[in-house]
Formats: sequence, structure tokens, C-alpha cells
Amino acid sequence: MLRRLRDPRLIPFKTQTLLLRIAALASELRVPCYLVGGVVRDLLLDRPVHESDIDFVFEGDAIEFGYQLVKACGGKLTAHQKFRTAVWHTPENGDLAPDTVDLITARREVYKCPGALPTVTPAMLMDDLRRRDFPVNAMAIRLGGDDSGELIDPLDGQGDLARKLIRVLHPASFLDDPTRIFRALRYVARYGFTLEAETLRLINAEARAGLAQLSGERLRHEFDVTFEETNPPVTLQQFADFGLLEAIHPALLTAQCGFMPLETPSTHFGEFAVPEILSMRQSLGWIFYLIELNKSDSAALAKRLAFPVALAEAVRFAFILKRDLPSFKDYSPSQWTFYLDEAPPLSIYAVYLISRENALSEYLSKWRHVKPIATGADLKMRGLRPGPHFGEILRRLRAVWLDEIVVNQEQEDRWLDSALNAQK
Ligand code: CTP
Repeated sequence: MLRRLRDPRLIPFKTQTLLLRIAALASELRVPCYLVGGVVRDLLLDRPVHESDIDFVFEGDAIEFGYQLVKACGGKLTAHQKFRTAVWHTPENGDLAPDTVDLITARREVYKCPGALPTVTPAMLMDDLRRRDFPVNAMAIRLGGDDSGELIDPLDGQGDLARKLIRVLHPASFLDDPTRIFRALRYVARYGFTLEAETLRLINAEARAGLAQLSGERLRHEFDVTFEETNPPVTLQQFADFGLLEAIHPALLTAQCGFMPLETPSTHFGEFAVPEILSMRQSLGWIFYLIELNKSDSAALAKRLAFPVALAEAVRFAFILKRDLPSFKDYSPSQWTFYLDEAPPLSIYAVYLISRENALSEYLSKWRHVKPIATGADLKMRGLRPGPHFGEILRRLRAVWLDEIVVNQEQEDRWLDSALNAQK
């Protein structure tokens, strides 16, 4: 594994430096330390490692190791006492990546009831590997000590990788944690693997029933990460084919998984806010996915999946905008603008990607920023008494700018003269 750990095509230089620092400290303190999970799987597949997926597992207290790490290398530690895990925020000088690193105490998990979070007790690496979802995710690489770089694979993850199989480690795995069904289907689509026969059989009505017990946040997360995949529609179709959507909420049966142009917006459109916790890609993914849902279905789903308010709003407005778009064809720029000012820019951008309606791109890149030169203070100086008509005049003035009836200060002054005269 050492060759792969040092391969800059698989692990960026700053992350290699981070691994070396942690390995050196683990050696010095004689704490058994391992890289575990998706990183090991991706390294064995010769795929570049996602920095954010790097998890370190310790036989011993991860929090204590974290404090030693801060002492030796700097940065900050956030400790989570309940599960004896910690997040190391690496020093800000930028020598190490990623910015945050999960430090985990090896643990055993007991599921008291399906779908609930497990009870956790500290344990050895073997217990920690056995509690995981699939053998391909239950391999470790030792970091530090004489055998640093050694691959530990007691559950034959390598065999499954070679056979291109996703296989659960025990028959109750999907009942313990139904999110594993989504995980399995993502790996199938991402790596072109197949579900092992018994695993396939275990995605049955009993396992699907477990989805009803999952919290909205946990369910939503499974879709959030699916939108980050290279080809979300393939995985979403699998979710549908395995009856997962129905089991979550019947409204999802109307979801569209075919169309998902998840491009990064060009700076041409300017900045716009993305609902908290979600990336742009995830937010757009949700909007495209749910754009055909009517108001009540979309509200029901937003509730079930614990959408942030801004996401629920963006989805709802995108539906309305897409539906009503044909009736705006003859709108002037000011009519478009006054209508679109009420909409979340994210919804407008999503509907633009679907429709390529030029007015939507004009609005995002230009019209929404158009303002008259004159302000309320200027109206006062012209002797107008403050009141609701102030706003009305400024709105009409903005409209003539938008419709290019007024294009410079002189014309604006003339327009104001006549508008104010007409008021007298
Ligand atoms: N894991 C698990 N059961 C789950 C979630 C996670 O056993 N329901 C374990 C797996 O060993 C997994 C590790 O926790 O490898 C880390 O989880 P996560 O970061 O979600 O996944 P990755 O393996 O990094 O995979 P991906 O590339 O899909 O992010």
C-alpha cells in the first residue's frame, strides 16, 4: 500500500504530508492508528481519494490523540465525548489538507431497534471493521509503527473488489441501518459493481419498511450525496426500481430523475445564495428532481425530508416558474424583473438551465442589478414629501431604466420632472 499512499495522482501532496505527521505521532506515542473505510477502497481501485473521506481510527482514545496532535502540529480540536470522536481542524498555514480530519475511537455498535442510531462502546479494530456496511468498506491501512502501510483485510474486501461485488457483512445489516441500501446502490452505479445474490435478496419489503423509521435528515443526506455522484439519474432510477421512493413518500413517484444538468454556474450569473448545509450541485439536484411536484406534494416531501426552509422555497418556486413560463413570453424586461424579484435566484437559475429562456439569464446577470440613479433623498430634494408614493415613483423609474426608455442621468432627470409635474 505504501506505493499507493505516496502516489500524487491518488493522494494530493498536502494530504500525504498530513498522513506522515499522523503516522509519526502514532509511532511516537505507540498508539495503533489506521486509515479506514472509503479511502482504502478507493486506493485499492486506483481512484483518487476524496480528501473529505479520510477517516482515522484509533485503538485507544481518539480525543486524547487529537490533543497530542494539536500540541505537536497546531490547529484546533473539537471533541465529541459521547462517541469519543474528535475533529482536528488543521493549522491555517495551509501546509496540510484537508482542513478538517475525523479522528475516531475504534468501536463496537449495537442496534437496539432498526433505523435508530446504535449504542457504541470502545473496541479493537477488528470489532470496528465488523460493524461496517460492506467488506469493500471494511479494510484498514496501518499508519505508524514498523508495519506502517500494511493492508488489514480480515473480511475479504479485496476479494469483493476483484469480483466487483457489494455484499453485506451479515443478514440484518439493512435492518440495522436501512441507509445502507442507498449506499449499496450508489456503489453499484459508481463502480459498475453488482449486488451479491444474498444482498440483493435482502433488499426486500422488510428492509424497505425500515425506511419509515429513518429521520428526515438521514434520508435527505442519502439523496444529497447521490447528487454529488457523476451520474445521479442512474442511481435515482435504481432507488425507484428497488421500491425505495414509494417507501419514503408516495410523492416521490412523480420525481424526475432523467434531467440533471448539474453544471457549475458560470460567474456570468453572479452570486446567489444556496440553502444552508447544501452545495450548489445538491441544491440544483433537488430542484430538478422535484420540479414536477405540485404544491402539496412538494410541501409534504419537504417536511418528511427535513428540507432547510430555503430549499423548500426554491423547489416550490421553480415548479411555479417552469409551469408559468410560457405565459410570460411577451413580457417586457421590467415585467420580468418585477415578477422574478419575488423568486429565489436559485430557482430562476434552475429553470434557466431547463428552458434556456434568455430573459431568465438576462435577469440574473443584468436586470436584477438595475437601479435608478435617483434615490429617495433626491425626491425629497425635489420637494416631494416622503410617503408610499416615493416607492411607487422609484419603482416606475426602475421600470423605465429596465425597458431602456431612460438610459442616462439627463433622461432620468427629464422623466422625473414630468412624472412629478403630473403628480401636482
Ligand atoms: N459506514 C457504515 N455504514 C454506514 C455508513 C458508513 O458502515 N451506514 C462506514 C463504512 O465503512 C464507510 C465509512 O463508514 O466506508 C465512512 O462512511 P462515508 O464517509 O459515508 O463513506 P465512504 O466510505 O467514504 O464512501 P463514499 O465514497 O460513498 O463517501
